[in-house]
Amino acid sequence: MIQSRLPRARVVSTGRFNPPRIVTNHELESLVDTNDEWIRTRTGIRERRIADKDVHAADMAAAAGRIAMERAGITAEGLDMILLSTATPDRLLPSTACDVQALLGARNAAAYDYATACSGFLYGLSMAEAHIASGQAETVLVCATEKMSSIVDWTDRTTCVLFGDGAGAAVVQKATDERGIMSTFMKSDGTLAELLWRPGGGSRIPLDIAVLDERSHYVKMAGPEVFKSAVRAMCEAAETAMARAGVTSDDIDLLVPHQANIRIIEATAKYARMPMEKVYVNVDRFGNMSSASIPVALDEACELGRIQPGSLVLMVAFGAGFTWAANVVRF
Ligand code: UT7
Repeated sequence: MIQSRLPRARVVSTGRFNPPRIVTNHELESLVDTNDEWIRTRTGIRERRIADKDVHAADMAAAAGRIAMERAGITAEGLDMILLSTATPDRLLPSTACDVQALLGARNAAAYDYATACSGFLYGLSMAEAHIASGQAETVLVCATEKMSSIVDWTDRTTCVLFGDGAGAAVVQKATDERGIMSTFMKSDGTLAELLWRPGGGSRIPLDIAVLDERSHYVKMAGPEVFKSAVRAMCEAAETAMARAGVTSDDIDLLVPHQANIRIIEATAKYARMPMEKVYVNVDRFGNMSSASIPVALDEACELGRIQPGSLVLMVAFGAGFTWAANVVRF
């Protein structure tokens, strides 16, 4: 299916928030049996940001959202919708999106959370496009915010060294010319959920003493299996999104992949025939911020001038679910 058509929605602006506190690999050596060399060579991560106790997922999303709105020249009253991706909601009821709405004073907006883990920002762009194309909204704020430090097991070296906290946001509006979302690819596979999950603490296994003892309310990951699935899925997503947009890797100015592991990023880039000079990487400074990784990278790339008006950007993500997705976007 080739989606060669004028875009229906475009990314007007972006914003990001990263907590100021930097935690280096060396600092983690005092928590678990790990070392800087292992973390750097296996993942590419050197440091990550960790939010203070009193900085929550909603606060980080609102901070990123305010920047994106200011850059788009819109006020909070001008938002029709707030879509929020998170694996770390401030609480289970009500949604973190409603908290963000309250923090921003976006009194005309409908707001909801959705849970597609690391692919969340790209799923959000697609939902924003659909709401705009159907006439339900004109201006949508897509937020992705993750306080991963609140759900990792700080005694488990196989996961705690990988993640970081942060948030990104984008204002999405109707496209008026050739700039915008040129193609979308989304896919899921729920049969592999147990390879990356938080088994306890939901309605299936409510939080109790046994859950706390087993530490099953924390993230569990079968790293090597997830690694292989991530490479396979991100390659499929990149290829399909480019085919649907009717473009090749030569046409793409910048690849902005999910930032889980430099080895996954390099494998995806190689398969997509993109030299690493055309790939945005910040996993070394932030670790894996789940769904916030792509919008933070996107915002940095815009600020650094690596994305200019007219640039063609390929974004590719993979995460728990499993879910995976890709977009080709003309900025
Ligand atoms: O964002 C959602 C998607 N997530 C991902 O895409 C993550 C995918 N997975 C990965 O990135 C990698 O699988 C990891 C970085 C998680 C692990 O790297 P790996 O090369 O697959 O290592 P491994 O799990 O096979 O472990 C190799 C060894 C093991 O020791 P033995 O059994 O060989 O003696 C681990 O126990 O490394 C050990 N190990 C560690 N050593 C030092 C695991 N974690 C650590 C650690 N420090 N933090």
